[in-house]
Order: sequence, then structure tokens, then C-alpha cells
Amino acid sequence: MLSTKDFIQMSLEANLFWGRIMKEHMIFIEAALPIKNSNYILEADNIKKSYEELLMETIMVSNGAISQGAIDSKELVTAFTLEAETTTENLTGVCINKEISSLELNLTSRPDFNYTPSLERHIFELNNRYINITVEVINFMEKLLSQLLDCTLFAFMYPNMLDHLIEEAKFYLKSLIDLQERIKLKEDILRTEVFWNHIMEDHSTFIRGMLDPSEKELIKRAHSFAELFEKLLEKTKKAEKENICKITRENLEAAKELKDFKTASTEGILGCNIKSIISPLLADHVLREANRYIRILKEYIKKC
Ligand SMILES: [Fe+2]
Ligand SMILES: [Fe+2]
Repeated sequence: MLSTKDFIQMSLEANLFWGRIMKEHMIFIEAALPIKNSNYILEADNIKKSYEELLMETIMVSNGAISQGAIDSKELVTAFTLEAETTTENLTGVCINKEISSLELNLTSRPDFNYTPSLERHIFELNNRYINITVEVINFMEKLLSQLLDCTLFAFMYPNMLDHLIEEAKFYLKSLIDLQERIKLKEDILRTEVFWNHIMEDHSTFIRGMLDPSEKELIKRAHSFAELFEKLLEKTKKAEKENICKITRENLEAAKELKDFKTASTEGILGCNIKSIISPLLADHVLREANRYIRILKEYIKKC
């Protein structure tokens, strides 16, 4: 059973991280659809707005309540996020609520925060609203993916990337349902590491495939990360309980290296020094996902 504090803190952190990730997926989809599909562009935009409203509401109750670890990890917002949003909005025309980032940059953690039963009830109700919109977003993306796969829809997005966005949404939905049932997330760290290694492998292949063909060195580096995470994914799948600490350390080392590569890529894309079809916001987005994974790994290693 989760304590009141754990329930509130874990819910807030999951929603601040994943709620933003979900709304950014809608921004990427909007920017990738042809004008012929303006109905889908509008649908994605409405879902994006719903997440933005929920995020604003979540931020209002998060100050002081979230952990210092969540702030320090830069999984919610990085030093690049605001600029990446401004540039991406200017380049694509997709509206982005940047106040969310400004407010998140000022979030604090207070050890003496009072986690009250009334806040717990409010968070429970907020989680339910996140669940409803996340079910909606999964249905929406599955509809788009099936049309992409039978070639009745075209998008400037790999079907594999859309599938990746669906996997992330399903992972988030499952975590929310577990939270609502107050299930203490079991020591199932290996399953979590399998999920994230697969996500990191996908990111490496997307970066590789979205770089301009002339960016040969960066393509090589992205390819070597894809191979590294493919190997680590297999190793983690086969890992025995007694080897958890060892494999977690290995995954952490690799995730840190990939984070450095993603940081340099985000800087390069923002500074117009890298030729690609990666938007600055997508670059920052995959960096934040690595940051979240790194925090999970570091927190587990503390127990080793
Ligand atoms: Fe994502
Ligand atoms: Fe991702």
C-alpha cells in the first residue's frame, strides 16, 4: 500500500513528466500530418490543449510537494526546453503553452510539505482525468497507425515512431492505474529497464534516420547507440535477480552516454549547426526521457 505522501508525490511526478510527454507527442503529430488531414490535426490539437490544461492544474498543486530528485533530474524541463518550444512554435505554427515550462522551472521541493487527505482526494480525481485523456490519446494514435500501415494515410513520421508514442502512452496509463489502486510498484526494476532500454534504442534509430545524410559522423554515433541498447536490452531481458545491480549499473553508464549525445544534439539543432528533420522540441523531448530513465536507475542503485 502506498502512503499518502508517496501516492501524492509519485502521481504528481508521473503526471508532470508524462503529461508533458503526451502533449508533445500531439505537437509532433500535428506537425507531421499533411494539410489534407486537417481534421486529425485539429483532433491532436484538442488533445494537446486538454493535457496543457491538466498540466497547469497539476503545477498549481505541485510546488513544494515534488521531490528534489525530480527537479534535479531535469526530466520535467531542461535548460533548453523554453527555447526549443519557442523555436518549434515559430517553425511549425503549432501553438505551445510556454507558461507551463516557465512555471516548472520555478518548482521547488519542501521536506516539511503537508501531504493532506484532502490533497490526496484531489490528486486521485486528477489522476482519473489523466487516465481518461490518455485512453483517448491511445485510441487516436492507434487509429492513425492502422491507417498509416494500410497506406490510407500519409505522415512525415515513421510508423515505428508512432508505435513508440503508443507504447509510451500505454506504459504511462498502466502506471496511473497502479497508482490509483495504491499498488506499491513492485521491485520489478528489470521490467522497467527492459522498457526504457527499448525506448533508448528506438530514440537512437530515430535520430539516425532523421539526420541529414551528410551528417555521417553523427549517423555513425547514433547507429552505435542503437546497437549498444539493442545488446543491453537482450542482456536485461535475460538477467537473473542476483545480477540486477550489475546490469543496472551498465544500463546507467550507457544511458548517461546517450544523454550526453542527446544534449549535444539538442544544442546543435537549436544552434542550427546540425542538418536534420528533428525539431528542437523533439531533440529536447528525447533528452528528458533519458533524464527520467537515469533517475530511475540511480534511485535503484542507491539500494545496491
Ligand atoms: Fe516520447
Ligand atoms: Fe520516446
